[in-house]
Formats: sequence, structure tokens, C-alpha cells
Amino acid sequence: MSSRPRTPAPNAPAPGKLPITDLLGMKERGEQIVMVTAYDAPSGRLADEAGVDLILVGDSAAMVVLGYDSTVPTTMDELLMLTRAVTRGARRPLVIADLPFGSYQVSDAQAVEAGIRFVKEAGAEAVKIEGGGPTVDRARALVQAGIPVCAHIGLTPQTATALGGFKAQGRSAAKALQLVEDALALEAAGCFLLVLEAVPEAVARAITAALSIPTIGIGAGAGCDGQVLVWHDLLGIYDGQAPRFVKQYAQLSGTIVAALEQYAGEVRSGAFPEARHTYAMPDDELAAFHDGLASRAPVLPVR
Ligand code: KIV
Repeated sequence: MSSRPRTPAPNAPAPGKLPITDLLGMKERGEQIVMVTAYDAPSGRLADEAGVDLILVGDSAAMVVLGYDSTVPTTMDELLMLTRAVTRGARRPLVIADLPFGSYQVSDAQAVEAGIRFVKEAGAEAVKIEGGGPTVDRARALVQAGIPVCAHIGLTPQTATALGGFKAQGRSAAKALQLVEDALALEAAGCFLLVLEAVPEAVARAITAALSIPTIGIGAGAGCDGQVLVWHDLLGIYDGQAPRFVKQYAQLSGTIVAALEQYAGEVRSGAFPEARHTYAMPDDELAAFHDGLASRAPVLPVR
């Protein structure tokens, strides 16, 4: 028998990683699943440290990190870079990457190519795609290619224009029933998780009861199997108008601005840096340095 250490099989979860299959058990036991977005290595690490179960590298990055007005313009390259950073920081949480608008709408093959890049090049465990209808086929194609898929229905920001803006969905019986049908179709296509955004609580509860896969709510009430919030909303960093479903757990904008103002003031007054922030050199080297400066022409003034 070979003494070579065993290497993990390709595609095996990294050591310490939450197994994706544990999410079903959490739903069955009624344990709430905690998800948050993150966009860089430190936030991935902090979410991990806080015991968060799932990290979404959301295309909300377009708005909260990259300064776009909507999620539509962000590109594969931008989200791949952010996802790579998050997967370097997060150990236990499963990292789910949003496929950006335009990277999966054209065909199943396009969706699979995009999904493979996020798993292979950026280390994501899964990808998220928005919508029902044609997205169901995309989800099935990704799952058949071995890529776990989180679906996202209700308010789908990538197609907010077609929905008439950023507003709650499924508020009529017909629209709510359509959401139930979409949810069941996405589960049948093999999705392991479903995000429900901005839908009435009664609709989210009915979908959660109808599915065996977990649901994660954002503006969908307390009847889901877990919740997700956007990092910048939760921590009070984003300047834009927060939707009503956001709860701010900190107001870091104020803390950050106060620290930056103090720094600027100290740089301008000369209070920073102090001696303890600077490097000294041995006395004999300093003397030799001054001698060297003095013998140089033109002579530099020594302070
Ligand atoms: O992009 C994102 O952050 C999302 C969440 C709001 C679910 O899709």
C-alpha cells in the first residue's frame, strides 16, 4: 500500500466546510439558516468568525461596492474577482456566487460555462440565478453539470425594470400562485436552495411548506427557513435608501467618517505620525548617512 497522503477527491468539500446536504437537515429540524452577502476576503473571514452558514457574493456588489445604479452592468470579471477574494477568507460557510445578468440568459450552454468559471476559477461552492420560466432549464443544466444552484424568485433585481421597479412581488392571488409554481419547478430542476425576495409573508410561508429544499427570505417574513441581508445594509455602510425589510445592526458609516476625519485632522496638524509609528536606524549608520549626505554635491539640508 502506498504511504502517499490521501488527497481529497476533486470537487470534495474543503476541510471544515459546511456540507451542502446539511442544509436539508437544518430545514427538517427547524434550525434557521443564516446567510449574508460579502465581497472581499476580510468580510468572508468575519462572516465565518461570526458563525454565518452561507455567504452570497451577490451582484448587489454592483451597487454597494462598485457604485453602479443597478445590478445589471456588473460583469463576470468583476464578480469572479470578488468571489475569489471571499473564498480566500471564508472557511466553514458555503460560498454562493451570483451569475451576473447576461451570463446565463442566452442558453443553457452559456449558463454552464459561466457556472464552471465561478466554481473552478473562484472557488465558489454554488451559483445563484434569478427567475422562474426559462431559468428553470438553466438551473437544470447547471445541476446536471455538477454545479449546485440556488434559485432566486420574487423581486429579481436583474429584471427589476421588467417588473416595474424595485417593488414587492406576488401580491395578487394569481401572481402568488405563479411564484409557487416557479418554486416547485426550480426544486424539481434540482436547486438546493431558494431565495425569496420581497414577497408577502403568507406566500413565502406557503412556498416554504411546499418545498423540501430550504428557502431563504429577504423581505419575505419570518416563515422562511433562513434569512439573508446585504452586508452594507446590515452594517449601515451604504448611503442609498435602504428597503423597508432591512434591519441595521450597526451604523458603521458614522464610525468610519469620524475615524477618517480624526486621521485627516492629525495629518494636517502633525499629530500623526508619532515617534512610535516610525522606524529608527542605528546611531553609527545615521552618522555615516549624514556624513555621506554632507560630502555629496549639491548638499541636501539635513533636518
Ligand atoms: O445580490 C444580492 O445581494 C442578492 C440578495 C439580495 C439576495 O441577490
